[in-house]
Amino acid sequence: MTIWAIVPAAGVGSRMAAGNPHNLPKQYRPLGEKTVLSHTLGKLLAVPDVVSVTVAIGAEDGYWQSIPESTHSRVHTVIGGTERMFSVLNALQALKAERDDWVLVHDAVRPCVLVSDIERLIAHLKDHPVGGLLGCAVDNTIKQIGAQGEVVKTVDRDSLCNALTPQMFRFGVLQAALQRASELGLPVTDEASAVELAGLQPQLVLGDKSNIKITHEGDLALAELLLSSGAE
Ligand code: C5P
Repeated sequence: MTIWAIVPAAGVGSRMAAGNPHNLPKQYRPLGEKTVLSHTLGKLLAVPDVVSVTVAIGAEDGYWQSIPESTHSRVHTVIGGTERMFSVLNALQALKAERDDWVLVHDAVRPCVLVSDIERLIAHLKDHPVGGLLGCAVDNTIKQIGAQGEVVKTVDRDSLCNALTPQMFRFGVLQAALQRASELGLPVTDEASAVELAGLQPQLVLGDKSNIKITHEGDLALAELLLSSGAE
């Protein structure tokens, strides 16, 4: 079983622009002693089965070389695209992978993922024909709202879950699904949606809720707390 990892890290983090004193992309914001991206890469590199980690960075990225993982022997880079899916496609193209190899795609901005969750995802899916993703339950009651903010209805949360990363798919399945989505201009915000649009059913594997996506300024403090709790 060969497992490759891809980290799309070419986003500019526009939702975090306000209140960002250094105008740093969120993957390069300090988090404890390291950057967000260093923590994230450290989690993937801690999994011995991961052959290499390909990081998609922005064409104008001036920060990559400043993080220690940039010179790691299992870490490589490609230039990302204008959307997350194009960044992942560029990374897939750079892999010397076989059709049935596994690819783990993990957001650069999810530094709190537990190594044990990555290992559990791999263990659950290793014989699956397609692949799947980490997810966690939706705790809040969810409302569907109209254009003016009026509640249209309450959605049954028992049939919902939050999609997390890593998402783990067979190389051939993922590349074909993303290529198709790109050619047809289909809306894709994660790998699983491209695979679903290709008519396949990714498998959900429950993961820990601490695997937050750093999106807003306040998420950094929460991530620091989660990392300092020492859970692995
Ligand atoms: O912006 P968003 O939070 O959806 O980004 C999710 C991940 O995708 C981040 O790790 C970001 O760096 C990456 N991304 C990318 N290329 C883009 C846009 C986002 O690699 N063009």
